[in-house]
Amino acid sequence: MTNALLTRLGLTVPIIQAPMAGITTPALAAAASNAGGLGSLGCADLPLDKVRTLVEDMRGRTNHAFNLNFFVNQPADLTHYDPGPMGARLAPYYAEFGLGAIPSPKAPYAPFGAEGLALLLALRPAVASFHFGLPDRAAVQALRDAGVMVMGSATSVAEARALQDGGADAVIAQGWEAGGHRGVFLGPLDAPGAGTLALTRQIVQAVNLPVIAAGGIADGRGVAAVMALGANAAQIGTAFMLCPEATTKPVHRRAIANAKDNDTTVTRIFSGRPARVIANRFVREMGDAAALAAPFPAQHSLTSPLRQPSHDKGLDDFLPLYAGQAAGMARAVPAAELMTALIAEWRASSA
Ligand SMILES: Cc1cc2nc3c(=O)[nH]c(=O)nc-3n(C[C@H](O)[C@H](O)[C@H](O)COP(=O)(O)O)c2cc1C
Repeated sequence: MTNALLTRLGLTVPIIQAPMAGITTPALAAAASNAGGLGSLGCADLPLDKVRTLVEDMRGRTNHAFNLNFFVNQPADLTHYDPGPMGARLAPYYAEFGLGAIPSPKAPYAPFGAEGLALLLALRPAVASFHFGLPDRAAVQALRDAGVMVMGSATSVAEARALQDGGADAVIAQGWEAGGHRGVFLGPLDAPGAGTLALTRQIVQAVNLPVIAAGGIADGRGVAAVMALGANAAQIGTAFMLCPEATTKPVHRRAIANAKDNDTTVTRIFSGRPARVIANRFVREMGDAAALAAPFPAQHSLTSPLRQPSHDKGLDDFLPLYAGQAAGMARAVPAAELMTALIAEWRASSA
């Protein structure tokens, strides 16, 4: 069976280690690439000089293809945002940890723009993937002309078509099961989306591009399942979060290791955009206040001061415990070992 995506990137297995801002490292991504898959670095929240350093590190670890990922959200527009109601809800938690005044909301990082494009054109990774849409057509064309394969996440068939129309080389079908932020960029932020099974198949039928399935895939059987639906590869996130090469915090690791199938939920309360997390105290008590959240990613600036004191106390109460519905299947093994297992399972179940 020919697989245009694998051939183009020189991959030997249809497994993409998902970009995860704040979690992925060159050691993790290189292990995935060196095993024949595609390693990815989540770069969205990093200063561009740090991205450059990570890519140098990456190139010291692998000669194979890898992916750099960025966010292309609209900049947070705070002109009409009233921080009062959210501040009133957060005040008791700030008091609990003795944190003083609640800061004014501010975006902690900027979306992908001209400087990010210039850096990508200089670094020329094999793949650049984007969340929350695509850069403008000229930027996409410039990347393609430079030999960089451009991918984007779609949470609906309409978004997959929009990515195809915007010049993408491949579409990531991100199902409702997926951990972390939903890549939604058309339609209402809070609407529930289609699951990976239904979404992947319908996107495969709707576009003429390679499709990568993401969401709830945690072993080789899951990879084989989405390949049977017509996907060209599986993108796996949460299942890599217990690898020692990931920077997942200890309390987050514990929550993932203990997670059951129905422990996760989608909420906007941490960042302002919907993300799948393991439900904790903050989600339970503040979930109804999501409509008061500052626009993404400025809400982070209001909720992140609670994280360190919570973490210092060994509590996972205030951390965004990003994880997909298959979190309980994550294995605490080195990334190379995980890749070996995923590949063996995929081969055994597609024979
Ligand atoms: C902790 C975490 C962080 C994530 N960060 C990003 C990111 O920076 N960029 C991105 O495109 N996707 C991000 N995602 C989503 C993944 O690309 C992918 O869609 C998802 O992990 C697939 O579902 P799974 O976690 O069930 O495997 C993140 C996912 C997780 C769990």
